[in-house]
Amino acid sequence: KKRVLSMIQPTGMFTLGNYLGALKNFVALQDDYECVYALADLHAITVRQEPAAFRKNTLSAYAMMLALGIDPEKSIFFIQSQVPQHAQLAWVLNCHTQFGELSRMTQFKDKSAKHADNINAGLFTYPCLMAADILLYNADYVPIGADQKQHLELARNVAERFNGLYSPTFVVPEGLIPKTGARIMSLQDPTKKMSKSDENTAGFITMLDTPDQIMKKFKRAVTDSEACVRYAEGKDGINNLMGIYSCITGKSYEEIEKEFEGHGYGDFKTAVGEAVVAELGPIQKRYNELIRDKAYLEKCYSEAAPRAEAIARRTLQKVMKKVGYLPQK
Ligand code: TYM
Repeated sequence: KKRVLSMIQPTGMFTLGNYLGALKNFVALQDDYECVYALADLHAITVRQEPAAFRKNTLSAYAMMLALGIDPEKSIFFIQSQVPQHAQLAWVLNCHTQFGELSRMTQFKDKSAKHADNINAGLFTYPCLMAADILLYNADYVPIGADQKQHLELARNVAERFNGLYSPTFVVPEGLIPKTGARIMSLQDPTKKMSKSDENTAGFITMLDTPDQIMKKFKRAVTDSEACVRYAEGKDGINNLMGIYSCITGKSYEEIEKEFEGHGYGDFKTAVGEAVVAELGPIQKRYNELIRDKAYLEKCYSEAAPRAEAIARRTLQKVMKKVGYLPQK
């Protein structure tokens, strides 16, 4: 079986963007691949976290992943900070990545503009840690949204460079970016991606929003003045809503256009909101049960870490030998 790896930062409740761009695929891939998933809590501290809230968010992210269908038996689902090889390989990769390459990362440019008071070294070398996450497990495929494409490209380049400099060591991974859903936009500004760090909370839907909040946010979603549900250039708001509706219902854009022919945006927004409410309802119900069962969550992540480490350790040993470190007897 081919191996899939992906991770997500546990810095706050996941958005509908995380879900449609990545998490929904994580679940689907479990049937056909050997899947390794993790909460990227090492990445999370590139932005300052309040310790108590961070701990709580991590546990709640873990519960949410199980609620939405990550199967801890079928897949390895662990917490990054509990497998020390990630930080160790990241160091080696830091030393095989150029300042210039990292300077070109658009996410670094965006985040350093946003957090001008804390442009720490970790924020800058973050893509090396992400490369380590992927390469430790020799992943063939990496399901991600469009915003992670440049980071994946860097991981591929570093893998190829290392393989060329020493000898074939890493599998060069491929991204799996969905056709629809790879870039869900803010409901308030459909030229910006939907993000949980948006100060305008009306711009994003979280996995724990109530039906009432969801319906209100969709009703307020920014559209255009044409009043015709069709996918076209310049109709960013409607295109985004059509993308969301298509991801959830599986309907094509043509089918959606037909379904809403002669209807105004009000009807369409209601339908999109209702589809999202119906999709999230059962997930929220399972989440509410899981988050109460701390012992079960602890059992799942505690059992997953050594399974991940068994794979990671082998790769790291190979890497260290090739680099020329003396073996520890
Ligand atoms: P993160 O935590 O920001 O996001 C997790 C996943 O959600 C996708 N995503 C979106 N997809 C569609 N529309 C949106 N508006 C949207 N917002 C986020 C992201 O593309 C991502 O797939 N660096 C990564 C985490 C990471 C990782 C890894 C991923 C760490 N190590 C190894 C893959 C492999 C990140 O910050 O994603």
